Amino acid sequence: RTIAVVLAGGSGQRIGLSTPKQLLKIAGKPILEHTLAIFEEAPEIDEIIVMMNPGFVRDAEAITRKAGFQKVTRILPGGTSRNATTQLALDALEGNDPATTKVLFHDAVRPLLSQRIVVDCVRALDEYTAVDVAIPSSDTIIEVDDDTITDVPRRARLRRGQTPQAFRLGTIQNAYAKAWQDPGFEATDDCTVVLRYLPEEPIFVVAGDEHNMKVTQPVDIFIADKLFQLASDSTPEFGEDDYRERFAGRTVVVFGGS
Ligand code: CTP
Repeated sequence: RTIAVVLAGGSGQRIGLSTPKQLLKIAGKPILEHTLAIFEEAPEIDEIIVMMNPGFVRDAEAITRKAGFQKVTRILPGGTSRNATTQLALDALEGNDPATTKVLFHDAVRPLLSQRIVVDCVRALDEYTAVDVAIPSSDTIIEVDDDTITDVPRRARLRRGQTPQAFRLGTIQNAYAKAWQDPGFEATDDCTVVLRYLPEEPIFVVAGDEHNMKVTQPVDIFIADKLFQLASDSTPEFGEDDYRERFAGRTVVVFGGS
């Protein structure tokens, strides 16, 4: 059985509106609806659990009902941190077989996830117990201490982590059980928890996609909306050929320079 957990427990402070960003509309629909539709349409996914900001569970229920999503079995309140929300999802998954159940944790605010990535994650779990999704970094990443550089890691070895992060249920349960015993536990994702607390388990990395962006800053709403316009259909999958086709014959204006 393969279960998608959509993490929508946050409040979107960096966007700074009173409505959590997962409920903002992009291309005519709430971001959460776009994201749920991806898993609803994925043949590999049997069930979807939504972990919602506790004050907005009813909004998520209304979206699910209106869209007629059949695979959404539960809409539950999330926790005070992303990791707390993951733990609440794990609690809800008790009773599933830890060895054979596959679980994909996905940020509700990545509404441009492709079906290709979903398939790659689910398949990778046949061989690995933990799977991450990442893309190369175009920017040089620097490490700082306050305002001065302490290191510039080699860019070729760096990746930018996305979601889904996918696990055999038993692996992520064990990793979290150990993590909560560590008073210094702190993480912003789920693979970090496996890396730190089950270091013997290799975490496979599936190639992500530039379009699988996380709506985080105000400008991201604009960018995501433009990307949906480019896709112009409900299956956002952009290959090189799509670009060639869409931009064929168009004048590309380059601003700046001299
Ligand atoms: N998330 C969650 N539970 C939390 C915090 C975050 O399920 N307590 C989810 C968010 O809803 C989002 C994903 O984790 O889909 C990625 O987190 P992030 O982009 O940091 O979302 P927010 O916490 O909402 O944003 P901010 O940090 O700007 O407040």
